[in-house]
Amino acid sequence: MIFESHAHLLSNKFENDRDEVIKRALENGVYAVLNVSDDLKTSIEAVKFSKQYNNIFSSAGIHPHNGMDFKDDDLIVIKQLALDPKTLAIGEIGLDYYYDFCDRNVQKEVFVKQLELAKSLDMPVIIHDREAHKDTIDTLNLFKGNLEGVIHCYSGSAESAKILLDMGYYISFTGVITFKNANKTIEALKAVPIDRLLLETDSPYLTPEPYRGKRNEPKNLVYIAKMMAQVKQVSYEFLLEKVWDNTFELFKKAKLYRKVLEEK
Ligand code: NI
Repeated sequence: MIFESHAHLLSNKFENDRDEVIKRALENGVYAVLNVSDDLKTSIEAVKFSKQYNNIFSSAGIHPHNGMDFKDDDLIVIKQLALDPKTLAIGEIGLDYYYDFCDRNVQKEVFVKQLELAKSLDMPVIIHDREAHKDTIDTLNLFKGNLEGVIHCYSGSAESAKILLDMGYYISFTGVITFKNANKTIEALKAVPIDRLLLETDSPYLTPEPYRGKRNEPKNLVYIAKMMAQVKQVSYEFLLEKVWDNTFELFKKAKLYRKVLEEK
């Protein structure tokens, strides 16, 4: 049983075959999917979408790419969506200094406001950090001990991973670990204990080998999990069992659905 902790199922890349993508995921052992939002529109749609399937969950939050559209009133909407039983986290939120689509000071402000909201709701966060490792760590440090979450698509060093682990964060890896030049990410993966790992595809992006270059979808988690098991030197089955448990440990609201998901 695999819990896909990060996919963008509402992406227009899935507009023609969304149902089949979800069906294929189930057939390949992906028994639950956290469909992650990146702006107000997808946050609203994600909650509705989660009602159409037993095994699909949602998140609510504004991605750093979309920080320039942010208004304080959005926090009221995100809060409302976050209270839905199937909304598991605030996210994805964070900092992106690679694309810099939004002014960095605005990114930081929007990030902090959403971290404050998550703290007030006692909900975990899904963190996006691209080329902003220092500022991400500094910002999360302000909330040390008061927030739980996952650093998604981890791209930092093994040393930074240790700092984030000390703060209590889970670390999640994508198909990047199957790429040829992934040495740094593999070193980081080695530094994360198995009980703090999550699995994700970040579909429709970051397709693992052997499908690199094509559209990604949750069924491809199998290839990421196999590589992860190999790097962690454990059996595939053991890894899946641990990651399945970890995901419920972090996203506590999903526990309500766990039995039903496992009966599939
Ligand atoms: Ni994402």
